[in-house]
Amino acid sequence: MKNKIVIVTGANAGIGKATAFKLAEMRAHVVLVCRNKRRGEKALQEILEKTNNRNLDLMLCDFASLNSINDFVSEFKNKYEKLDVLINNHGAVFLLKSKTEYGVESTFGVNHLGYFSLTLQLLDILKASAPSRIINVASSSNYKVKKLELDDYNCDRRNYVFIRAYQESKLYNIMFSFLLAEKLQGTNVSVNCLHPGYVKTHIGLNNFLLKLITPLAKYRGLTPEEGAKTSIYLASSPETKGISGKYYHKMKERDPNKLAFDKDAQQKLWDLSLKLTNL
Ligand SMILES: NC(=O)c1ccc[n+]([C@@H]2O[C@H](COP(=O)([O-])OP(=O)(O)OC[C@H]3O[C@@H](n4cnc5c(N)ncnc54)[C@H](OP(=O)(O)O)[C@@H]3O)[C@@H](O)[C@H]2O)c1
Repeated sequence: MKNKIVIVTGANAGIGKATAFKLAEMRAHVVLVCRNKRRGEKALQEILEKTNNRNLDLMLCDFASLNSINDFVSEFKNKYEKLDVLINNHGAVFLLKSKTEYGVESTFGVNHLGYFSLTLQLLDILKASAPSRIINVASSSNYKVKKLELDDYNCDRRNYVFIRAYQESKLYNIMFSFLLAEKLQGTNVSVNCLHPGYVKTHIGLNNFLLKLITPLAKYRGLTPEEGAKTSIYLASSPETKGISGKYYHKMKERDPNKLAFDKDAQQKLWDLSLKLTNL
């Protein structure tokens, strides 16, 4: 990975931090994309001290804001001439219904539109840097979705259930990956997605109430380092070179929820996402 420029979103904690760390160890130039300067600097410092890799950069972006994503993209393109790997990893759970800065339900906005808007705006530089790779961190919670509710992405006509919103957003990560892979055929830019496993991280703990009812941090899951393995594999392995449009778990290709293969729904999600992100 020497001299490869890699973006990892949500790189200050959990799986993202472990992914950034491992890639830094592999001598990549890692751009840690975080929403909080202090937390980002702390992670960068820790990775620097442990790997002695000076090619680390912290850039700020809040994926609940389209303006912030647009600003990050401009700043990145001013600073860098290529991008070899984009790892969309950030993610959040919102116990209570809330909205992004631009008025979309937060889980859909941050977890799906955040990946969508960032990726689409970086496609030109990814294509110019080909062969390049896009990796979207999804989740096995995609299997829980029984019916797509794209007509009510804001949960205005149904009760908001936080876990359901999360499951849907993770299914959308997969649908987006599959359609994008098709659109990128012949460009040498690959797109794959994955379930990292059940990993002991802080996801959900940004919600005070969720912290009380779901002590995920004490959950007996994988370590973040173990959880980062499939992201690293898809980002760096020669075995996955040229493979695109697949869903992985434990470094093996798997079948996701069959709803993910619905072509009409993929296109509907794409069109809706274009509209909501003004792209
Ligand atoms: N942990 C699991 O068992 C598990 C299972 C399946 C899938 N996943 C997926 O793995 C990915 C990483 O999650 P994790 O478990 O490592 O969780 P985590 O420890 O909570 O890390 C999430 C990261 O995303 C960042 N983030 C959240 N909202 C953001 C926003 N609006 N703008 C910018 N960054 C934001 C967080 O930043 P702050 O620190 O500033 O909040 C943090 O860096 C997620 O996509 C998640 O859905 C996790």
